[in-house]
Amino acid sequence: MKTGIIVYSKTGNTFYVGQRVRESLEKLGQKVVLERIGISGSEESGKFELLNIPDVSEYDTLILGSPVHGFSLCPVMVKYISEMVAKDKKVVCFVTQFFAFSWLGGNRAVKQMESLCVQKNLSILYTGVINWSNKKREEQILKFIDNILTVYKT
Ligand SMILES: Cc1cc2nc3c(=O)[nH]c(=O)nc-3n(C[C@H](O)[C@H](O)[C@H](O)COP(=O)(O)O)c2cc1C
Repeated sequence: MKTGIIVYSKTGNTFYVGQRVRESLEKLGQKVVLERIGISGSEESGKFELLNIPDVSEYDTLILGSPVHGFSLCPVMVKYISEMVAKDKKVVCFVTQFFAFSWLGGNRAVKQMESLCVQKNLSILYTGVINWSNKKREEQILKFIDNILTVYKT
């Protein structure tokens, strides 16, 4: 089984979580590739293009990660999932956000992510929100990883 962790990360937080997940899955003996979506142009103006569009055809499971922007799923991830060609895959979705509580955009963003995947007939394994300014951030990351590992062990 091969897993693709596909993240968009403007300032590195989401990528960092992706790296932690990759390390943990590799320890389980899983084959994992971490890919980072790039863009040209400006996301804020809405005028941007995806630079590298990770091809997910070789992965059985996808772990998609994105920051929360403006209390919503970041437009880059909206575009990526909308254009992604993926069939018969299991998906884990996660977002990172600055605010300490998931009701300040994180829940909404991860639900958007989930529903974009469901529209593509992909089956959702698990979703998670990491609150960067929460005192328990490290615990959140560990719990998120633990829940993913549980899915892999079952
Ligand atoms: C344009 C923009 C909008 C943002 N909007 C929110 C927001 O609505 N809620 C929030 O909690 N964090 C918000 N943030 C903070 C990011 O979601 C947070 O720092 C995230 O962890 C960044 O991930 P990254 O380092 O992978 O880009 C915003 C950041 C940017 C640049």
